[in-house]
Amino acid sequence: MPIAMIIHGGAWNIPDSLVEAHVAGCRAALETGWAVLKTGASALDACEAAVRVLEDDPTFDAGTGSVLTSAGTVELDAALMDGRTLRYGAVANLRRLRNPISLARHVLEGPATFLAGEGAEQFAVACGLPLCDNHELITPRERHLWERWQAGQAQAPAENPPHTEVHVVGGHDTVGAIALDRMGNLVAANSTGGTPFKLPGRIGDTPLIGCGLYADGRVGAAVCTGWGEAITRVAMARRAIELLERGLPPQSAAEVAVRTLGRAVPGGNGGCIILTPQARIGLAWNTQRMAYAYQSEGAQAIWGC
Ligand code: GLY
Repeated sequence: MPIAMIIHGGAWNIPDSLVEAHVAGCRAALETGWAVLKTGASALDACEAAVRVLEDDPTFDAGTGSVLTSAGTVELDAALMDGRTLRYGAVANLRRLRNPISLARHVLEGPATFLAGEGAEQFAVACGLPLCDNHELITPRERHLWERWQAGQAQAPAENPPHTEVHVVGGHDTVGAIALDRMGNLVAANSTGGTPFKLPGRIGDTPLIGCGLYADGRVGAAVCTGWGEAITRVAMARRAIELLERGLPPQSAAEVAVRTLGRAVPGGNGGCIILTPQARIGLAWNTQRMAYAYQSEGAQAIWGC
């Protein structure tokens, strides 16, 4: 079976000055995931490896470098879904993990589907994953932005987050990956720090099945990015899969899913990536930019922002 992989690094109004870093980060994640897929390893392994690269890159709002809550802390969410078994692992409100995607992988392979907060971190320890201090996840860029917000010099995200000042000044949004392995299995994965100055405890679309991601090995996999409250209201990832089920090509499915987000929820902004079992790709966004990189076997890698 031909292998394929697609990565996104968030859909928002990425300023010119940050385009290069976003593209470089997506390419690095794709190269890592691709190298894993080429060995014949599973799509689960490839997605976990690729998302870890994005979480470790402070360019992105995931893992280290994530945006801060209104309390000045980092709270992380992530999820993985296996299209062959429909098994699903999600984690939320993590404060002490550098790589939430690896904990989501453990959850997927364990008895639960979704763990949050303190219990999730205890499970991480039981799985042998290292914990860090919350401040180790905070970059000077995000601390500075939070201090400006505290001083009233930057706006909190309103109903339409990607158009607010804070999104121009600071990083925002989820990262995601979908891989198709040699066995023909599709896996979807994502990870986020959420929205800037979110209420502590707030959970967006990212770890919610059918909202931030969905994978059905017979049909395709979709991963969404953008304003989590809006994406959740339209169950956007599951909607994209239903469009594939109705026979739409992946590019059209991604475009319709994004259009639906914008129409159904005033100011609903974001993006969507899709990969099918035939290694066909779709990607669309209604923000100014979305960072991405993808590759199918026998073709050159493609990237952009
Ligand atoms: N899309 C990420 C979030 O809203 O949390």
